[in-house]
Amino acid sequence: MRRKMVAGNWKMNMTPSQAVRLAEELKPQVSSEEVDVVFCVPAIDIVPVAEAVKGSSISVGAENMYYEEKGAYTGEIAPDMLVDAGVKYVIIGHSERRQYFKEDDAMLNKKVRKAIEHSLVPILCCGETLEQREEGVTLSFVKQQITSAFESVPAEDAVKCVIAYEPIWAIGTGKVATTEQAQEVCGAIRENIRELYGEKTAEQIRILYGGSVNAGNAAQLFAQPDIDGGLVGGASLKPEFAEIVNYKKEN
Ligand code: PGA
Repeated sequence: MRRKMVAGNWKMNMTPSQAVRLAEELKPQVSSEEVDVVFCVPAIDIVPVAEAVKGSSISVGAENMYYEEKGAYTGEIAPDMLVDAGVKYVIIGHSERRQYFKEDDAMLNKKVRKAIEHSLVPILCCGETLEQREEGVTLSFVKQQITSAFESVPAEDAVKCVIAYEPIWAIGTGKVATTEQAQEVCGAIRENIRELYGEKTAEQIRILYGGSVNAGNAAQLFAQPDIDGGLVGGASLKPEFAEIVNYKKEN
């Protein structure tokens, strides 16, 4: 049985003091025994948010990480800095990083491997553009993103990773994928993992859906057989996030 996960992606929002306020506000409402809850926050907010959620079941995640250990990479964050600050998860390959910061599949594979080396759990993002969906190449495109990200990653490590399927056209647009569309691609991703690693890994790995998840659509999306929770952007900055985490109690 896969545990559900709801991860908030705060993106480039919240100063450290705002972040602490939000974390403290959400903390009592999102401490769930059934769902793994993660706040993925801007790098500068990691230390104060980790402090704010101490003693709760909430984990702190980073939104990015570099693939080198240390050295002359001005402005980058090393994996052991994240670990030392109390981070458990790291988003890798969000479409905004692929698009605005030119992160490509080869770089993302290095990041995935480096995160694993430091026992950080990568939340690996994948997903197609609207054009690709309209051209009918969604499944092959996502398959290639996944295959490339997991290159040289052994099964015992792959199984600990989290994959987030986020169709780019559904991110921040209010245009959520239909449950059928989301399930179809998440199912195909699981099939891809089955081809790469076999049945056991495919059954255990968690696959999230992301893209305009809100309190109104979470329950239906998370009820799909291959959707193990959500990566939530906009709604993670609001009390609505608690309703998403508690999606089972809402209906
Ligand atoms: P959204 O963002 O929920 O605001 O669409 C999701 C994401 O980018 O992870």
